[in-house]
Amino acid sequence: MTQSQKYRITLLPGDGIGPEITTVAVDVLKAVGQQLDITFEFQKAKIGGAAIDDTGDPLPPATLEICRNSDAVLLAAIGGWKWDNLPSQQRPEQGLLGLRAGLGLFANLRPAKILPQLIDSSTLKKEVVEGVDIMVVRELTGGIYFGQPKGIFPTESGEKRGVNTMAYTESEIDRIGKVAFETAQKRRGKLCSVDKSNVLEVSQLWRDRITQLAPEYPDIELSHLYVDNAAMQLVRAPKQFDTIVTGNLFGDILSDAAAMLTGSIGMLPSASLGASGPGVFEPVHGSAPDIAGQDKANPLAQVLSAAMMLRYGLDRPLAADRIEQAVMQVLDKGYRTGDIMSEGMTLLGCRGMGDALLTELENLKS
Ligand code: IPM
Ligand code: MG
Repeated sequence: MTQSQKYRITLLPGDGIGPEITTVAVDVLKAVGQQLDITFEFQKAKIGGAAIDDTGDPLPPATLEICRNSDAVLLAAIGGWKWDNLPSQQRPEQGLLGLRAGLGLFANLRPAKILPQLIDSSTLKKEVVEGVDIMVVRELTGGIYFGQPKGIFPTESGEKRGVNTMAYTESEIDRIGKVAFETAQKRRGKLCSVDKSNVLEVSQLWRDRITQLAPEYPDIELSHLYVDNAAMQLVRAPKQFDTIVTGNLFGDILSDAAAMLTGSIGMLPSASLGASGPGVFEPVHGSAPDIAGQDKANPLAQVLSAAMMLRYGLDRPLAADRIEQAVMQVLDKGYRTGDIMSEGMTLLGCRGMGDALLTELENLKS
């Protein structure tokens, strides 16, 4: 069953390898769109360093406006050495934080799944990581990233004092909690909430509220871990985890750790969703300025982010499936970019990988 539909997609290629991996993702979306009678109308805007160079602002108001007026946003990566010495409020990262806040994207879904084809890329033993399939649900618009007061202030003694505030309201915890329980329902029914409630009041409230939500989801097995223990368990025995829910800062850290279980951050997509309005879909990896413009980047996380966009943002699961299948097939055929290269495989550049995907999509056409 196909339904013809048109979607307006905002592309935010950003910095570094962003533009080249975006080109591949757009080609893949167009190809799958043609096959399944889906039309994409792409509009491009600047964010991060590219926007700073252009306007002095990492998130120009026009960019936020274009994003608001779209069905979904496909972001690549931001940042680079060039902008590293700017004052913190003018750094490319502020563009990303402003986008999350501006679109109300409180729920960040970060899957970390071991692909059998790449199992040797992991630095952990095969028997530890084989079969790992984790979803980190990270709260994205609250916690210490946004809490007030924040800043660097002079003290009476004349030294400076840096302050950030980790704060969550009940409603902020409840809404991310619900997303997490519902996510676990679509997976293997296990939810682990991560906090630091042995020390932090904000975490005590977090644990209380998550616990109070549990009776509404009798099919979900809920557990709690302190964040230090969770970090340890993630590298000790990652297969115990299905869905993890946690606050902004802990989620930032644990999602990187979970990502590296797979051995290749270049393969991982993510989705950031709000209560309504467009979601933002982006790879977990950064802008890799060291290889930018050299046709060496791995476009697969960007392509898988486009698949997440179809699945979670546009509700087109068949198109998402097809893209994910094409990615599996290029890996099965032994095609690799430099970051995931191993002996006996065929090394491709960013564009070459894009072409291989298009060939596989053509083959998948039924
Ligand atoms: C991430 C990144 C960002 C974050 C930075 C670039 C602001 O590390 O998306 O995980 O800390 O959220
Ligand atoms: Mg991070």
